[in-house]
Amino acid sequence: MLVINLSVGTEKRGHLSVDEPTINLGLEGIYFTKSEVCKLDGINGRLYYRGYPIETLSKNSNFEEVCYLLLYGKLPNEEEFNIFASALKSESELPEQVISIIKDMSNKAHPMDTLRTAVSALSAYDNDVPDSSIDANMRKSVRLIAKTCSIVATIGRFRNGESYIRSKPNLSFAGNFLYMLNGSRQSQQNEKILDIMLMLHAEHSSNASTFSTLVAGATLSDIHAAVTSGIATLKGPLHGGADEAALAMMRAIGRPDNTEEYIESALEGKKRIMGFGHRVYKTYDPRARIIKVYLESMQDSSSEEVRNLTSIALRAEKLMVDKLGKTKGIWPNVDFFSGPVYTALGIPGYLFTPLFAVSRMPGWCAHMIEYWKSNRLIRPLEYYSGPIDLEYIPMENRS
Ligand code: ACO
Repeated sequence: MLVINLSVGTEKRGHLSVDEPTINLGLEGIYFTKSEVCKLDGINGRLYYRGYPIETLSKNSNFEEVCYLLLYGKLPNEEEFNIFASALKSESELPEQVISIIKDMSNKAHPMDTLRTAVSALSAYDNDVPDSSIDANMRKSVRLIAKTCSIVATIGRFRNGESYIRSKPNLSFAGNFLYMLNGSRQSQQNEKILDIMLMLHAEHSSNASTFSTLVAGATLSDIHAAVTSGIATLKGPLHGGADEAALAMMRAIGRPDNTEEYIESALEGKKRIMGFGHRVYKTYDPRARIIKVYLESMQDSSSEEVRNLTSIALRAEKLMVDKLGKTKGIWPNVDFFSGPVYTALGIPGYLFTPLFAVSRMPGWCAHMIEYWKSNRLIRPLEYYSGPIDLEYIPMENRS
């Protein structure tokens, strides 16, 4: 916690007066609400969704069930699961106008900008928008989860010069994303790996994008506005954009034997290595630990590119853990290993962060619906540190 002691002019008052606030830059270490959605234990490297450890969920569950768990706070029985999973499928269709927006923006804008605009536009075609009841927000959440997946796959299709295709009712959520992106069904193993990646990214407490979702929604705006704010926030390389940046670094390293020299010289130049470090985890990110297992299994991949990226990622991780992990608490986060895994699944780098938004949509919605139950406008204070009572000088007299 950073404590800034400021005394202003002659107005020196007692300790912790208006003029001498404690400022927590980046709101670091500040609790702003209670939540039952997610527990993140940054000291011990543990993550729980609604009380279930992430290791248990990624081993036994699937993304559809995790969405239900996050939104409703409990695991579904078979009937509840079937109804929920088929609603996700039936809501995956995109309005023609939204498809046109995606087509128009695809080759001009960053995919996260296209996604943000398309998700915002969905509100024009959702009859539930004015209804702020919990039931309506649950319906809107299901639509947002389903349609965000279709939007991201469609961004990929248009950037490849291909056309929009509809989802298939017999495929899982992960299977449909790969199908809608590629135009053909992918292997069951690839569908399973993507399903695990989606589960691992589904929720993460009051991270930057979830917080901005809540800030927007706490004004009693609507859920489309709130998650649009979340998408805008996820884009930055200090948050969700780190996965694309980490892959770009691995590509810049080029050959595995260049890894150590590249990382050493980046650190000497005081550069940040994307995919390392976390505001809350001061130990190994448990999601990165799970992904690493899949990464290790890719060392024998038939693709030379995947073998190279895997080797670079594992060598970079070893060096960073030795140099910064134990000394400074800078460990790999979820974004470091995602790139090589997504590359092995045939997902292009420009879709990594949009895909992160697909998986985080249930987390944003679950938090928003929970917060609205005891809503309070989020409005922190800033300490004004500039001059006051300045004299207004007419323009002709200014130098
Ligand atoms: N590489 C090298 N050094 C780092 C890194 C990194 N990735 N991250 C932090 N450090 C160093 C800082 O330079 C600083 O060093 P100093 O004390 O010598 O000045 C020290 O560690 C503390 O850094 P802070 O910026 O204070 O840590 P903060 O909690 O604010 O940052 C953040 C967390 C933004 C994630 C940071 O670790 C970072 O920039 N990482 C790279 C981007 C990234 O991977 N983001 C994804 C996070 S996970 C997610 O959003 C899904």
